[in-house]
Amino acid sequence: MTNIILCGGSGTRLWPLSRTLMPKQFIKLFDKKSLFQLTLERNISICERLLIVSSTEQYFLALDQLEENATFKTHDSTFLLEPTPRNTAPAIALACMALEKEELVLVTPSDHLIKDEREYQKAIQKAQSLAREGNLVTFGITPTFAETGFGYIEAEGLHVKAFHEKPDVDTAKKYLKAGNYYWNSGMFLFKAGVFLEELQVHSPEIYATCKAAFEHKTTQHSTIRIQHSLMEAIPSDSIDYAVMEKSKKVKVVPSDIGWSDVGSFDSLYETLPKDSNGNTQNPRHIAIDSKNNLIYGAERAIATVGMEECIIVDTGDALLVSKRGSSQEVKKVVQELNAQH
Ligand code: GDD
Ligand code: MG
Repeated sequence: MTNIILCGGSGTRLWPLSRTLMPKQFIKLFDKKSLFQLTLERNISICERLLIVSSTEQYFLALDQLEENATFKTHDSTFLLEPTPRNTAPAIALACMALEKEELVLVTPSDHLIKDEREYQKAIQKAQSLAREGNLVTFGITPTFAETGFGYIEAEGLHVKAFHEKPDVDTAKKYLKAGNYYWNSGMFLFKAGVFLEELQVHSPEIYATCKAAFEHKTTQHSTIRIQHSLMEAIPSDSIDYAVMEKSKKVKVVPSDIGWSDVGSFDSLYETLPKDSNGNTQNPRHIAIDSKNNLIYGAERAIATVGMEECIIVDTGDALLVSKRGSSQEVKKVVQELNAQH
């Protein structure tokens, strides 16, 4: 099986940690490891080959992090570099075009946490047998609140009745009540050829433009490069809208794997280790009467007095101070900064 690792996104809700040239998947937040490296660790025991789909700009960052670890370095891995991002449908399509039709593919984002590796491996095994039968398999997470940033899988057993990408909040609340809906984890398992057939049926323009771009690729050692003008001609769309909402071949494996999309500082707070006052562990944080804070600082000592439920992120050149619970709004900071430049 091949692991297609998607690492082309930027993650604006984690500013100032996440930047255009240092997106969240490469930040070493967990035990001096990045989410990208944790993804590699988790998947090299399951997949014989890695196919890392990244942007030209992030190539050296990804390569450095791969080569830091001797086991990763010797694993069979290929990079596919996009000169400009076109979202996940084209990224996955171009990667599948580099593989045999019958090859099983595990598609994973590079910026999630999975706590229960045993359950993860079990879920993958179930998904593999469904994928061998010609299905597009999704991994369903039991929802805990009406998140509007995820896709929802409407399930009937393992069968998927419908897939709904990013509903509005009232719809999400209905899904939560109904009980037969899962969050889409953003991971997929299928045969490369089955995905491409479904893409061709449901989003023929993406298929055709990807095929043209792939035919003119250049390959050097284990790096595949796509030409800029041909990449630009590909319509931008996610796998969720381009294929999953439309295909009749979608199945779901319910996955109780301790999954977390580290999409915002609020979800990051939940995943980081904390001290007895509920502050994230940080030897440079001096906490006086301070509870339940996320305090991240690279260099300077940070002292808080009488602070509760706050987020402070200091990267030296930028400082974020926010209330916990509002961290979805951090993306507006990036919009504001972009507007100023
Ligand atoms: N190579 C490449 N090129 N990777 C990309 C691109 C691209 O153009 N765009 C996004 N990615 C990567 C991101 O880095 C991330 O790892 C993954 O693809 C998913 O993209 P996101 O932009 O994070 O998607 P999302 O969070 O809005 O939604 C997806 O994930 C949710 C769960 O976290 C969907 O699949 C939802 O249905 C799902 O619930
Ligand atoms: Mg995401």
